[in-house]
Amino acid sequence: MNSILNIEKDTIVNQTRSFCVEEGLEIVFTHEISKTQLQIISERTKKLPAMYHASVGMLYDRLKNGCCLLMKDEEIYAHIFAHRHTIQNHSVYERSSLWVHKRYRNNNLGLLLMDCLTKRFTKEFLISIAQEPTVHHNNELLGMQYITLKDLSPVLVETLEEIGKLRDEHMYKYYVNPYFESKINKFNKILIK
Ligand SMILES: CC(C)(COP(=O)(O)OP(=O)(O)OC[C@H]1O[C@@H](n2cnc3c(N)ncnc32)[C@H](O)[C@@H]1OP(=O)(O)O)[C@@H](O)C(=O)NCCC(=O)NCCS
Repeated sequence: MNSILNIEKDTIVNQTRSFCVEEGLEIVFTHEISKTQLQIISERTKKLPAMYHASVGMLYDRLKNGCCLLMKDEEIYAHIFAHRHTIQNHSVYERSSLWVHKRYRNNNLGLLLMDCLTKRFTKEFLISIAQEPTVHHNNELLGMQYITLKDLSPVLVETLEEIGKLRDEHMYKYYVNPYFESKINKFNKILIK
């Protein structure tokens, strides 16, 4: 990984952790959230146009992969989940339902949560498909690698289409974690019909 980006990321993450301590926000990785909280999160994803709607059932399912939360006085002030896609018996994870309470926005908490979750998936295939330059920059800070669809086997591209993840590369960029990148050729070979 680019060491300058790594230093930049570590600096931001450490500053943000200090901010959390000052604000009394606790970073938690968990597989458990109450049904009431899941209903609130689901409603939130429905109401906010920037988010993909996740039903309570979908969130329950994603909880199995764990999620990162920022908690204070038993309230959830920020969350990020991991969505598991199955590609021919292989699990490919995607971060999902990132949200930060308005009170705490623009303090790099979004990046902190992305970092928290990304670290949990270093031995798994992790992919990010996004439009916003900030997300691309954050992915680079997190050591993820930009890839184009031509780097992937036709079978994987076809599967991305089947699971509704094929995007226009003029608008969207694909990033994968170092594990995915290191296995990309092997993964492409495995995925032969
Ligand atoms: C997106 C969001 C989580 C960023 O939280 P944050 O604490 O402000 O994050 P950071 O301080 O790390 O990042 C600040 C900047 O990066 C942007 N950003 C970070 N992660 C982002 C993401 N996944 N998608 C879009 N923008 C993002 C923020 O919008 C902000 O940009 P701005 O300065 O132009 O306003 C927050 O704005 C939010 O909860 N928005 C509503 C829900 C949402 O849009 N979720 C993302 C769905 S992909």
